[in-house]
Amino acid sequence: MAALNVLWTGLALLGILGVLQIPTQAQAALQPNFQEDKFLGLWFTSGLASNSSWFLEKKKALSMCKSVVAPAADGGLNLTSTFLRKDQCETRTLLLRPAGPPGCYSYTSPHWSGNHEVSVVETDYEAYALLYTESFRGPGQDFCMATLYSRTQAPKAEIKEKFATFAKAQGFTEDSIVFLPQTDKCMEENT
Ligand SMILES: *[C@@H]1O[C@H](CO)[C@@H](O)[C@H](O)[C@H]1NC(C)=O
Ligand SMILES: *[C@@H]1O[C@H](CO)[C@@H](O)[C@H](O)[C@H]1NC(C)=O
Repeated sequence: MAALNVLWTGLALLGILGVLQIPTQAQAALQPNFQEDKFLGLWFTSGLASNSSWFLEKKKALSMCKSVVAPAADGGLNLTSTFLRKDQCETRTLLLRPAGPPGCYSYTSPHWSGNHEVSVVETDYEAYALLYTESFRGPGQDFCMATLYSRTQAPKAEIKEKFATFAKAQGFTEDSIVFLPQTDKCMEENT
């Protein structure tokens, strides 16, 4: 009887361990003590890495885009991005809803189907931020993305290096990491 108990306990433990060992999607870390108010304001998207097929096709044609982060009425963030598309400045707004710990948000977009989760993995608020996004769009269409936000259009070499290291640590290959070229189109303070 005792032996049987030991056997069952052993199996139960193995079972539990088995459950724990199911590979889970490596959750990117979050900026400790994330301070949302210091994250507000103007950012430039100056680096991207993704395994989305859209991105891999278009990456050479992309240029820098400008984003303004403002508090949204219901507690999340209002992210307004401006970029050049077909010779015109286009503006898109995303509402980032708080999703779990500070620095973690989710959003849906009329332009990108599915549910997206974005985390601020690391930031000094003054020069750069490293973001990680997971997009759930259905079988075969899920993708993830690493983004470098910089406060200026010309991030320092060590910031670019930091982003490349971060992207590789998230499993992105060298050729899926791009630094977006600077542009003067649609970047003015008031566009
Ligand atoms: C988000 O910001 C844009 C640009 O400032 C503004 O037009 C829009 O109304 C804002 N949306 C919400 C829901 O706050
Ligand atoms: C991108 O990588 C994620 C995480 O590894 C994976 O779940 C997803 O299916 C990949 N998407 C594509 C289009 O390869």
